[in-house]
Amino acid sequence: MLIDGRKISSEIKVELKEEIEKLKNEKGRIPGLATIIIGKDKASQIYVGSKVKTCSEIGIQSFLYELAEDIEEKEVLKLIEELNIRSEVDAILVQLPLPKQISEKKIMNTIIPSKDVDCFSNENIGRMFLNPNTDIRPCTPAGILELLSRYSVKLEGKKVVILGRSNIVGKPIAIMLISSGATVTVCNSKTVDLEKIIKKADILISAIGKSKFIKKEMIKENAIIIDVGINRVDGKITGDVDFDDVIDKVSMITPVPGGVGPMTIAMLLKNTVNMYRRN
Ligand code: GUN
Repeated sequence: MLIDGRKISSEIKVELKEEIEKLKNEKGRIPGLATIIIGKDKASQIYVGSKVKTCSEIGIQSFLYELAEDIEEKEVLKLIEELNIRSEVDAILVQLPLPKQISEKKIMNTIIPSKDVDCFSNENIGRMFLNPNTDIRPCTPAGILELLSRYSVKLEGKKVVILGRSNIVGKPIAIMLISSGATVTVCNSKTVDLEKIIKKADILISAIGKSKFIKKEMIKENAIIIDVGINRVDGKITGDVDFDDVIDKVSMITPVPGGVGPMTIAMLLKNTVNMYRRN
């Protein structure tokens, strides 16, 4: 069975739009998301364009800041300080990757935690570590959990194998799954006997960025596969999993595109609305 991220994200957008309709009379304004993009990275421009478009569809106001590639770090920090105190801005997103003169750590920890919509700051990551049911969670991991929940996948007692240990996906989703009662193994490119470990997974989450790396011989019969990979090969987007090769062996799988990707944006909007409700 296909896990349809496009369909679920559309349902979430409808829910959020209704919630905004209800809240805006009480608040006297609509939610606001400020997005900062630095430089001309093509993929970043596509992501940001898509985020801005989706915001307008559901009634979130976008504040878009397109900054030059060679901007000084202190200018960006100054802009963030201004956005931190602007009351109509509920949430702030700084698109990654950043040019090399700008410290990602410094940027992420200058955004006030109550507006840190990506949940990348030390404080918000720490809060999520201690309470994974908090309403502000990293977007891609939260999107994956939402998909599993809406497809009624039980996590308690399941063996989950995660490929990749990034701060954006691998590490936070491991924390969330541990709290849900799953037995979690996090692998990386140096993992010994990787294939043996993958073969034991009831649920496999791949976020390594290697096109079509996972083949049917590697997975367990009836495994659930979550493919976080977005790989550009000859102008086409492919996942980490060889979809056509594994499809007859899995019980559920997310396609690429149309699986986890749309859920990341849906969760970004959900975090924005949660911040608006609190603000
Ligand atoms: N670049 C790629 N993915 C992301 C994301 O989830 N958030 C931000 N801010 N930048 C990204």
